[in-house]
Amino acid sequence: MDKILVHGGHALSGSVKISGSKNSALPILAATLLTKEPCVIHHVPDLSDIHYMLQILSHLGAQVERASGTVTVQAEKIITEAPYEIVRKMRASVCVLGPLLGREKEATVSLPGGCVIGDRPIDLHLKGFEGLGAMHRIEAGNVKVFAGQLIGGVINLRGKQGPTVLGTDNVMMAAVLAEGTTVIDSAAAEPEVVDLANFLIKMGAKIEGAGTRRIVIEGVKELHGAEHEVIPDRIEAGTFLVAGAIAGKGDVTLRRVNPAHLTSVTDALTRAGFLLKADGQNLTIARTGTTKSLELTTEPYPGFPTDMQAQMCALLATTPGISVITETIFPQRYMHVSEMKRMGADISLNGPTAIIKGVEKLSGAPVMASDLRASAALVLAGLQGQGITEVNRVYHIDRGYELIDDKLNGLGAKIERMKA
Ligand code: EPZ
Repeated sequence: MDKILVHGGHALSGSVKISGSKNSALPILAATLLTKEPCVIHHVPDLSDIHYMLQILSHLGAQVERASGTVTVQAEKIITEAPYEIVRKMRASVCVLGPLLGREKEATVSLPGGCVIGDRPIDLHLKGFEGLGAMHRIEAGNVKVFAGQLIGGVINLRGKQGPTVLGTDNVMMAAVLAEGTTVIDSAAAEPEVVDLANFLIKMGAKIEGAGTRRIVIEGVKELHGAEHEVIPDRIEAGTFLVAGAIAGKGDVTLRRVNPAHLTSVTDALTRAGFLLKADGQNLTIARTGTTKSLELTTEPYPGFPTDMQAQMCALLATTPGISVITETIFPQRYMHVSEMKRMGADISLNGPTAIIKGVEKLSGAPVMASDLRASAALVLAGLQGQGITEVNRVYHIDRGYELIDDKLNGLGAKIERMKA
């Protein structure tokens, strides 16, 4: 198992290229199951979560080829059952349910268990499939969804915590091949949902309203192959902006980003006292002088993303004053806090709210990565820590960040990867 050693105190500057979005690529790869024809997907990041998805597609019978960032999938003949051994490794495997149900009118996938960022049910996905006339059964740890025929309907996907991203993706992927019109109300409006909708439209689907709370889908008989470029990863981009905020000396510029997808993050960083400049597909962050504490609440897009909450904790840990973060999407997503406290951060938790008293310096310490974003946040904390921060269990980082150590080293950080 690898570990990462972050030598604190090295200033960052220069530019870094942002990879394709993991959370777009995963459902888009699943959507290739909707056609017998080949699909070609570009800018697919080289991440372990993507490898798991490609393994699932191969298991289901698809021919999968990968040449650097381009993946070609042809799902001429498929089976409809994805086994526990592969599915358990990644919760997002659940997004093969929609396309399998759409194409074959049945799908069986191992039910995702709890996860370190909180209880993550799929009741809304199932409610959406029900709205298309499908039934489901839970048996031996698997969920089986099936329908004689899928018929469009009006489906409200609002849950207690707001809309569901993969739930919206799943219902959209099933509904494109349903008979008649489907309306998804309280749909997730994340850019990744829009990217999936754009890919489905290229395949011949009829979808309107992706990116709003109401998506309307006119079912078609069949879909064809298509070629698509995955959008830039806004969360990787946000993570590098925070790296620039924490350790930047001079400018840190991100290349191949969509600044419009990052507005809530750049607004927060601007309020914290940083200078942000967008220029086409480039986004630059620089320090202006004093930095300020923040109040932040995570919300569905276009609000501040839960996937950036841990990284902001790392920044605010050494920002003068008292900052307050409230996590509304995954209220227990604070595994990084106890690790940051071991580095000297002063953070207290009150239910879903973190109260962060900025300290002058963090000190390097051995810490444990618990989930993807928490692990990235610990690396960021290490950039400003005095001494060495040893981040263990870095396989979590490799699930969602392509070459994070090389990219940060390219900006001037000193990070080593070692076998633990
Ligand atoms: C997606 O997960 C992302 N994953 C997550 O990114 C991200 O944190 C999350 O959306 C929120 O933005 C992928 O895209 C692969 P949800 P998803 O369904 O779709 C509740 C990362 O770090 N809910 O939008 O699974 C749920 O418990 C990851 O890259 C139900 O109650 O999240 C949560 O409170 C981690 N019932 C809220 O809705 C359901 O059926 C939003 O979750 C589904 C969800």
